[in-house]
Amino acid sequence: MEIVIVPDAAAGGELIATAIADLLTRKPDALLGVATGSTPLPIYEALAAKVRGTDLDVSRARICQLDEYVGLPKGHPESYRSVVLREVVEPLGLTESSFMGPDGSADDIAAACFAYDRALAAAGGVDLQLLGIGTDGHIGFNEPCSSLASRTRIKTLTERTRVDNARFFDNLDEVPHHVITQGIGTILEARHLVLLATGEGKADAVALTVEGPVSAVVPASALQLHPHATVVVDEAAASRLKLADYFRATWAAKPSWQSI
Ligand code: PGA
Repeated sequence: MEIVIVPDAAAGGELIATAIADLLTRKPDALLGVATGSTPLPIYEALAAKVRGTDLDVSRARICQLDEYVGLPKGHPESYRSVVLREVVEPLGLTESSFMGPDGSADDIAAACFAYDRALAAAGGVDLQLLGIGTDGHIGFNEPCSSLASRTRIKTLTERTRVDNARFFDNLDEVPHHVITQGIGTILEARHLVLLATGEGKADAVALTVEGPVSAVVPASALQLHPHATVVVDEAAASRLKLADYFRATWAAKPSWQSI
């Protein structure tokens, strides 16, 4: 696992957007797995700026969703489908035809989960999966004690996650209890995992993910099992890492030909 400590969220966004731009230059129709929440927004802003300001062509990129609320009406502005279309797909000049995600309003949620897991594989698999991390260590919506081999399925949110996400809704009661999430086993099939964490509130979860044991109680620790996982953290999110100096030295000495 590579740990990159950046000065701030904007620098993290720029670093990861550059990696995505490199990927799309190598593989124009790459399947990019995107995350929602506040943390990845600087990535999407930096990538959209590259599309506007350089000759980067993202017109063949494909975008897929990591997780989704269950039970919000179709088109609800806080459904993750709406959020990804608004924050990623449209700013990149793409349309819904470039996008795939699970149907959180399906009558048969189990079938929708199974179908999405199959669709990701049929699309050739995810080339680069962006991840945030919950204060409770979740990735996607894989809450603590999710199976490390789990597939896309329905999960119940912890109260902590519902409270964390209440800022996107009028009040806590509106935050759904249930979600669809790519499983940890599904996430681990992506070719490159890139987790961005910023702010002091993520420092404990980051330390457990990077320096703790692999454990279902910290779902993000499953990244330790992946051959190409990159964890990008700002100084505040890195503040509880015992090996922070080593990670800084490693980054400083990184060969110029090697990307994240
Ligand atoms: P946040 O969410 O970026 O809004 O903190 C992260 C997550 O829950 O994965």
